[in-house]
Amino acid sequence: MPTQTDEAADYDFIINLVYERSRIRLHDGKQQLIRARLGKRMRHHGFETLGQYCDYLRSTGDGDELTHMVDALTTNYTQFLRERDHFDFLVNTALPKLVGNRKRFNIWSAPCATGEEPYSIAFYLSENFPLAAGWDWRIHATDVSTKALNTAQKGVYQEDRLASLPQDWWRKYFQKGQRDYEGYYRVKQPIIDRVQFKNINLLGNYTMQDQFEVIFCRNMMIYFDRPTQEQLVNRLSQFLVPNGYLLIGHSESLNGLNIGLRCLKPSIYQKA
Ligand SMILES: C[S@@+](CC[C@H](N)C(=O)[O-])C[C@H]1O[C@@H](n2cnc3c(N)ncnc32)[C@H](O)[C@@H]1O
Repeated sequence: MPTQTDEAADYDFIINLVYERSRIRLHDGKQQLIRARLGKRMRHHGFETLGQYCDYLRSTGDGDELTHMVDALTTNYTQFLRERDHFDFLVNTALPKLVGNRKRFNIWSAPCATGEEPYSIAFYLSENFPLAAGWDWRIHATDVSTKALNTAQKGVYQEDRLASLPQDWWRKYFQKGQRDYEGYYRVKQPIIDRVQFKNINLLGNYTMQDQFEVIFCRNMMIYFDRPTQEQLVNRLSQFLVPNGYLLIGHSESLNGLNIGLRCLKPSIYQKA
């Protein structure tokens, strides 16, 4: 029977491993989330307790299992058209101000999780920025989670995931699944073709080929400590065009960080 101290040490072990690999800090109180998310990994190996699972990781350092573990614990929650005012800002303010007659632009969804965010950007542009139909534009979508990225690249979603989209978009932008795919919807190819997916750890060493008019970096920073947030934002800013915009999640804030961006309104920042 594991003692309370053993159990606390196991949670600390997991929390520290996840922090080392992803910089996501699973705060105290996330024990329930850890237990729920790692249940599948434990069953996969035939372990009955978290202690056994941790002992396995401690003794083998199994790299594949570490990747699975980080995948299971990094929160991939997302939604189509999440925090919708950002999409309005994109089409009504950001792009008209920045793009002018150039007829080309790039947007970065960093992190994109399972793809709802980059596809929402593409749907919204198609609906509300029709000028762009013949223009040269691309959405770069990146995430550290290979599992999330695989889902994103497939662009196949269960019907209930589409609930936050207007009904008439379902037919416009998705193919309804038949037979084995009954109850699933696949994003149509012209939309998928606008999005380029890549596995990137935003805290690691990476580079991007392009500069971006707008970067969506939403609902990830809450997991990071302040120095990590500052480092991340300064790195992202290097990839913004002059006067380009950084959008962060509504529950996030960059107040007090030493960054070269000015806050236009909560969650919307502009490169100085
Ligand atoms: C809650 S989702 C946010 C998705 C989307 N931006 C949104 O607002 O709905 C957070 C995502 O951040 C990703 N993530 C966490 N740490 C990361 C890192 N260091 N580099 C890249 N992506 C990371 C996770 O894999 C997860 O998919």
